[in-house]
Amino acid sequence: MATLEITQTGHPSLRSTARVVSEHEIAAPSTQRLVDDMVETMRAASGVGLAGPQVDMNLRLFVAEAHPTERRPNIAELELLVVFNPLITVLDSTWETDWEGCLSIDHGAMMGQVKRFQRIRIEGLDRYSQPLIRELASFHARIVQHETDHLDGILFFDRIYERLAPHEQAVLTTRENFERFFSNSSDKAELVIAEDGSGT
Ligand code: NI
Repeated sequence: MATLEITQTGHPSLRSTARVVSEHEIAAPSTQRLVDDMVETMRAASGVGLAGPQVDMNLRLFVAEAHPTERRPNIAELELLVVFNPLITVLDSTWETDWEGCLSIDHGAMMGQVKRFQRIRIEGLDRYSQPLIRELASFHARIVQHETDHLDGILFFDRIYERLAPHEQAVLTTRENFERFFSNSSDKAELVIAEDGSGT
């Protein structure tokens, strides 16, 4: 296994539409190696998700995983997900606003408050081309929406601006200013996921 270079904002791969992966391709040793390398890369970067375009692969594929840590004790455990050709169905379109970072935006150092659907169903294929169906809510639903967006060339700050209510101001901050201006706010419980390793 190897860690891969994570593409950064401005790289064309992050703005292109990734292509569907056939079952034949999923079974190929090169694709299986790519999955292993993406998992290793995500873990090495302390991320909770990584999509094909983030390693310059134009494939509809993402990996995701989350564990509670000392710094982020409130994270609900998400066992490793490897999903090819994901399709999202929104089950609850209520917005949930929370902090996100992205390993492709200044290596996770920019953070923003992003509105995501509260509950979704994801359908796709796992690494053995078996059908995979999960219903996810809150933080887990957020990760999957963020990763699936990567497959369509969408970055989290696009969603911030697209989903702003009239007269609402975008919240986008460097990590330094997050610590300085936002970390003492009253909704600190929500901010826990914004600590190191929240990049996706
Ligand atoms: Ni990302």
